[in-house]
Amino acid sequence: MKPKCLITLELPDDIRAPLEQRYEVLTWPGPERLSEQVLGELLSATEGLLCALSKPISASLLNSAKALKVVSTISVGVDHIDLAAATRKGIAVGHTPGVLVDSTADLALALMLGVTRRVAEADRWIRGANWTQGWQSDLLLGTDLSQAKVGVVGLGPIGQAVVKRLAGFGARVLVWNRTYRPVEGAEWVELDALFAESDIVTLHTALTEDTQHIASRARLAMMPDRAVLINTGRGPLVDESALLDELSSARLRAGLDVFQVEPLPIDHPFLSLDNVVLLPHVGSATAATRHAMVARALGNLHAGIAGERVPFCANPEVYRVSASAR
Ligand code: DGY
Repeated sequence: MKPKCLITLELPDDIRAPLEQRYEVLTWPGPERLSEQVLGELLSATEGLLCALSKPISASLLNSAKALKVVSTISVGVDHIDLAAATRKGIAVGHTPGVLVDSTADLALALMLGVTRRVAEADRWIRGANWTQGWQSDLLLGTDLSQAKVGVVGLGPIGQAVVKRLAGFGARVLVWNRTYRPVEGAEWVELDALFAESDIVTLHTALTEDTQHIASRARLAMMPDRAVLINTGRGPLVDESALLDELSSARLRAGLDVFQVEPLPIDHPFLSLDNVVLLPHVGSATAATRHAMVARALGNLHAGIAGERVPFCANPEVYRVSASAR
């Protein structure tokens, strides 16, 4: 009998077909999100779960999984999975670090340039039939990245890749990380000072209880007038209602790829503001990177179902939890 594997997202046939050869693949009955109850029923006999960010994997859901050995997510972030509950249950959680570093760092730079050089706003302006006068000396003036002081919050691989790119632009770079980590070509500062002194703040820290609202109302208020907040990490890193206040009063600017609620509701007030560039969580969205993420996630899934060590494991301590805890 083939092991059972549950998939919580649509996958192209060339990925799904080989999975179906190896496993009895369970999936949701329609395109709509599954309720926790239905997922729980499906999970009761499944050994592997392949998922992505859009479906939270809660403790109650994990508790209903009697045979689950591995949760493999097609993402580096694991904040949609109750990691502690998985570890308690002896379930390995696989993720995809490394392969999306460059794509995500590129997108952070794209947002910085998009906001500072008003790219999206200019595109909307020209499509609105506003360009009637040829070249104008004061048209859509922006600010220069080469003249900016950029504060990088979080020095994991993506934060470090952003620092490297900023050096190429000639920006002055300030950095902060939860644990001290000197970076060549960048100045270490305390977190509040980073917000107070930077023309651009870019967030590259994982979402945890400690980092939720790291861009708090108080820190946003410390940012200089016309400063820019970039978020390609996770929505809840930012106090979104405080950011909305700062953007509505036109004091700050922002480039956001991630939001408190995704998809962004179509009546969200951000959508009416010109001083924020909005993207639909596409930091890792290049064909090559998505391919690499899926390959890594499948490797994790296969290893976990086979009872082998999951190569990219977000909760390695699971291997120290005794089998009797399951
Ligand atoms: C991740 O992998 O965590 C990104 O947010 C989606 O690619």
